[in-house]
Amino acid sequence: MAFDFQNILATHVPETIRVTPAKKGKYDFAVAYPDPVSLPHAEILECLKEALAESGSELAVYPHPQGNTPLRQYVAEKIGRDRDIQVTENDIILGNGSGQPIDMICAVLLNPGDVVITDSFVYGGTLNTLRRHLTDIRGVASDENGMDPEALDKEIEKAIKAGHKPKFVYLIPTFQNPQGWTIPESRRKQLLAVTQKYGVPILEDDCYADNRYDGDLPTSILNLDDTNSVMYVGSFSKTIAPGMSLGYMTAPQLILDRAMGVKSGRVSEFTAMAVEKYARKYLDAHIEEINNIQRTKRDAMLSALGENFGTGAKWSDPDGGLYIWVKLKEGSDMAALNKRSVEEIDVGFHPGINYSPDGTSGKDHIRLCFGYNQPDEITEGISRLANFLSKEGALDS
Ligand SMILES: Cc1ncc(COP(=O)(O)O)c(C=O)c1O
Repeated sequence: MAFDFQNILATHVPETIRVTPAKKGKYDFAVAYPDPVSLPHAEILECLKEALAESGSELAVYPHPQGNTPLRQYVAEKIGRDRDIQVTENDIILGNGSGQPIDMICAVLLNPGDVVITDSFVYGGTLNTLRRHLTDIRGVASDENGMDPEALDKEIEKAIKAGHKPKFVYLIPTFQNPQGWTIPESRRKQLLAVTQKYGVPILEDDCYADNRYDGDLPTSILNLDDTNSVMYVGSFSKTIAPGMSLGYMTAPQLILDRAMGVKSGRVSEFTAMAVEKYARKYLDAHIEEINNIQRTKRDAMLSALGENFGTGAKWSDPDGGLYIWVKLKEGSDMAALNKRSVEEIDVGFHPGINYSPDGTSGKDHIRLCFGYNQPDEITEGISRLANFLSKEGALDS
């Protein structure tokens, strides 16, 4: 008889509530892939060869526990230059993507039942991590300028009154996933004033800061904070490739020290060596190139939505990032249509519930990622989606 693992599963591991179709659509607006055509294979290979020729023998020893030192030096220089964050390599910990540092921060700070505040629709990977730490996740509403400071104030006050002071506020202030807005500097200051008033730290997830197509890039929240209350994570996933699996964090020293205590596994020194060389030589130009490509794709998706969705839906108009957040007909259930959309019209999207802390709000929303398909495919895919949704009664024409 086959062994039944069901009986020995840890009780605190939640069932996954993420809805993802098994098949990838030809028109894949579901997952957050960057443009596959412009991936810089040749340059990465060249840099890997160079790195191995210079210091390949170092692969024989275990890397620095915080990750490859030259890459940490590069990250410190980059966030100093681009995000006004002045740190040294000693203040950086590399991770397997930024998901690992987010998990480490949760492991360092969260006891089961602790309250963490997020946006009312927010990156599903972080929601899963918070759920795994048995967090009481409270979503706060936002408008086109991001989280509402007054609503944040009320939510923190309510939690404190009930004896559950939030452990931190998780924000993706720049080109938010999935809603697409960016918090302007004035609102960043207002949000900080609220968190500082109550003594609640912020985890700033700056995953998309480099993926800017229009407008100005506001300074980081970490830079605006004068109380050492902001922890910061970033990633190379959206500037080079998710497959490189490299991200980083910086935070006050106590958090860094404790994070090293909960870090499991190592960050590939092999990948880090290549990425450090690549980043110094090519990354700025590459970011400019992919931003031009992604701007064109965003525009293709926005105009296809305008042509095909008309007044039957509302959608965001992001200055950067990879997503458009669409609200469909009130009461429609996009999670129920998700699988059929891939099977019947080859179009993938993510239902809004993937992004809600309670896993049920946002049924009438979808997230569309414009990074993967080419502009003509985006036009075709959105047209197919509009026909499908009209037939299913989710889109008034
Ligand atoms: C807001 C946000 N943070 C973090 C991540 C994780 O990125 P990675 O672990 O690939 O660096 C993602 C990935 O989509 C994201 O959207």
